[in-house]
Amino acid sequence: MLVPADEGQFLSMLLKIINAKNTLELGVFTGYSLLTTALALPNDAKITAIDKNREAYETGLPFIQKAGVEHKINFINSNALTVLDEMLTNNEMELFDFAFVDADKPNYIHYHERLMKLVKIGGVIAYDNTLWYGSVALDEEKTHEKYKNNRKAIMDLNTYLASDPNIELSQISIGDGVTLCRRLH
Ligand SMILES: C[S@@+](CC[C@H](N)C(=O)[O-])C[C@H]1O[C@@H](n2cnc3c(N)ncnc32)[C@H](O)[C@@H]1O
Repeated sequence: MLVPADEGQFLSMLLKIINAKNTLELGVFTGYSLLTTALALPNDAKITAIDKNREAYETGLPFIQKAGVEHKINFINSNALTVLDEMLTNNEMELFDFAFVDADKPNYIHYHERLMKLVKIGGVIAYDNTLWYGSVALDEEKTHEKYKNNRKAIMDLNTYLASDPNIELSQISIGDGVTLCRRLH
């Protein structure tokens, strides 16, 4: 479930390079990528982290506390799409510098639609698992049964992102594949 350490290190450096201060994470689980983000951001930064599973977040919380970065995190125990829709109705909506998406794959396209309004122009959206264990490059019949459902969702996302004129895109073959989208308009 967790991003591998080299991907965490990559995201950490990316956050520093773009000088991120206000970030969003969809899909926290026990908080490994969240802790990586919190450690990378400056002391006055803010991370809005959304997951429908509070228990998993609380399992990892002692490590976040031990690292002294809990004050940067606003954990929201909810469905990510619901929270994004609420954010979009707020007249004083805040814009994010960076969003990391690692939740339910079939909703990635729906997240993208909303994140293109919630992440600032020049900001970055990172989608995790865009290689889906390599299955996106395999024929359907060669794909293991357990990868089939999300494979279709990820392939649709990859096709969609590749033709979205509002982003500049780079797919990084680290971990299970991370697609970086820089918002242009
Ligand atoms: C792969 S794990 C996240 C791992 C984490 N980003 C890391 O690398 O440390 C996916 C998480 O997404 C959450 N999730 C799935 N669908 C969701 C939804 N619709 N709204 C909020 N969270 C969701 C799950 O509860 C799970 O904890």
